[in-house]
Amino acid sequence: MDKFLITGGLPLSGRVVVSGAKNSALPCMAAAVLTPETVTLHNVPYVRDCLTQRRLLEDLGATVLVPELRTHKITATPIELFEAPYELVKTMRASVLALGPLLARFGKAKVSLPGGCAIGTRPIDLHLEGLKALGAEVTLEAGDVVARAPKRGRLRGGEMHFEKVTVTGTENLLMAATLAEGKTVLHNAAREPEVSDLAELLNRMGARVRGAGSPTITIEGVEALGGAEHTIIPDRIETGTFLIAAAITGGELEIKDCVPEHSGIVIAHLREAGVEIEEVNQSTLRVRRSSKGLVARDVVTEPHPRFPTDMQAQYMALMTQAEGRSMITETIFENRFMHASEMQRMGAQIHIDGRIATVEGPTQLMGARVQASDLRASACLVLAGLAASGETIIDRVYHIDRGYEKIEMKLRALGADIERLKESEV
Ligand code: EPU
Repeated sequence: MDKFLITGGLPLSGRVVVSGAKNSALPCMAAAVLTPETVTLHNVPYVRDCLTQRRLLEDLGATVLVPELRTHKITATPIELFEAPYELVKTMRASVLALGPLLARFGKAKVSLPGGCAIGTRPIDLHLEGLKALGAEVTLEAGDVVARAPKRGRLRGGEMHFEKVTVTGTENLLMAATLAEGKTVLHNAAREPEVSDLAELLNRMGARVRGAGSPTITIEGVEALGGAEHTIIPDRIETGTFLIAAAITGGELEIKDCVPEHSGIVIAHLREAGVEIEEVNQSTLRVRRSSKGLVARDVVTEPHPRFPTDMQAQYMALMTQAEGRSMITETIFENRFMHASEMQRMGAQIHIDGRIATVEGPTQLMGARVQASDLRASACLVLAGLAASGETIIDRVYHIDRGYEKIEMKLRALGADIERLKESEV
């Protein structure tokens, strides 16, 4: 397993370009199963999860051509398999996004029921409840969810009120409803920009989706969808990670090809914490730490447009460098503080009580050997390593490769001392 070796203490400077959003690319790739025609996606990030999603599509029988590194031309004319098998679902939960499209177009789908993962139990009961509301018959057979559309193999429009906001649950239902007979209304839908991006692609394919980005989404089912071309939105979590990278190292960065509007709440919190962020134009941010230094500010994670859980770990790293006590409350996932104990090994003062982490700062972090437990925890440890004195070795960086494109190269270009140690070199 690869590791990162970071020698901390260097302020970052320069310009960095943000990649496409993994969490938008994954559902958009799945959406290609809804049509026999070709869906062309640009700005698909070169990250492990997108490669896994591509493999899933190919296993189903689709053809995925990659004429350029970040362009995917997906054609799902014949589909031979109607199943996301255990081997794939266990490595990437987002494979459940195959459920909605397969069921909608072919009237049948089988997806291995994902188990828990490092950050929580993460059930998919709401996805299934929603599909049932569209008339599907859903059973559990030997660890697999088996779903069938009602008579004549077509789902029918229905109403679904999500008891909890779920991003991939909303996306699965959105895709399923596009080909259903009649109108579907999703209440308490996720409002994440990735949901709106998917809706935009679906509409380009001929779907009739209204209200994406609001809590109520209405879908008028159509008979068939066609091909389309679409560019994936920039990754707001990568954007936020670089904002913090500049602030935590006391550097100055220009962040290009981002959508500041998608990072509104993160920008607002960081400004309050003493980070100077200038919106240079609609796709560029300039960031540096204020000369007065960083101050502790509390944060509560909540569904969009509130503070994202996917930025919680990175924010915690920043708070170890801020003056005062900050409380970080995680309301989305019950076990998403694994990075805290790793940062404690670097000298951070963090106390965990249930869903609240209390950070006392500032502390001079010291390099140590630490272990990444999930994607965003890895990003947090990289940030901590950049701010620490001495050498930090981060184990299990395959987690970061799932969702950050060439992170060590981007950081090195900004002046960071970070290198990837291949298993054979350790
Ligand atoms: N939940 C249920 N039942 C369901 C679905 C969700 O109880 O049927 C609960 C979850 O257990 C959790 C909450 O609802 O407590 C929200 O989970 P959600 O379904 O929104 O998460 P997700 O769709 O599985 C996506 C992102 C995650 C991100 C979350 C929250 C993708 C592929 N993944 O996951 O991204 O943390 O939304 O914003 O879009 C990451 O990129 O590192 C990552 C984990």
